[in-house]
Amino acid sequence: MSSWDQYWQKSHLVNPDSPQESVGRVLYGKPVDNKIWLETVDKVTKALKIDSESLFLDLCGGNGLLSGQMSVVPKAIICADLNADLLSQVSPRSISRVQADVRQLPFLDLSFTSIAMYAAIQYLNETESVFLFENLFGLLKENGRVFIGDIPDYDSRMKYFSMNSRIDRYFNSIKIGRPMIGNWFERNWIRSALQYSGFSHVEILEQDEWEPYASFRFDVVAEK
Ligand SMILES: C[S@@+](CC[C@H](N)C(=O)[O-])C[C@H]1O[C@@H](n2cnc3c(N)ncnc32)[C@H](O)[C@@H]1O
Repeated sequence: MSSWDQYWQKSHLVNPDSPQESVGRVLYGKPVDNKIWLETVDKVTKALKIDSESLFLDLCGGNGLLSGQMSVVPKAIICADLNADLLSQVSPRSISRVQADVRQLPFLDLSFTSIAMYAAIQYLNETESVFLFENLFGLLKENGRVFIGDIPDYDSRMKYFSMNSRIDRYFNSIKIGRPMIGNWFERNWIRSALQYSGFSHVEILEQDEWEPYASFRFDVVAEK
């Protein structure tokens, strides 16, 4: 188990009064405003072409801030996450919750039309990410779509840590085996890994300026 898994499964504290803070969506010490987050939810919903017939899997879905707040309600939603306390906060009750490690998913192939994984790929290394992409390809029905959001951009890594006196904290975090933020990925690496995994169409999406972490993160949507 990596140090980040241990953190999310065993050490992470959930604050039911602050859902955004409970998934670490904090900017300059304050939880991100849910109104801003809803714009992101909308963006993901559109990119995945979610409609009332969709079978949607929210991977590493935490407390359901994405799956529980979509303006279009899919036919079925599963929210899967490592952390049982976060899953217990998911609402509405119609969302199925599954406590699972994204590296050992218990779902059958061809089960979903749409899959999202938002703000979580950084907890996987390159090997785990390639196996995940192959697994996602199998889980999706024909023409199904996956959205991987808030991917830390490798090319922005040192700029990010150089600002706001983060350098010492960053290297200290490396020494304890839980690097701040997690793993960083290149756009072209993500594109190639998804293509290698079978996806026919891969689009890298730059984040809009209003998104809290636009200066160092990007998104990708891919179609089977
Ligand atoms: C930053 S939070 C994002 C939650 C949610 N996707 C969102 O954007 O609101 C990261 C989530 O990934 C989950 N997670 C981390 N590693 C995981 C793993 N190996 N398998 C499943 N979930 C994992 C954590 O428990 C946490 O809920």
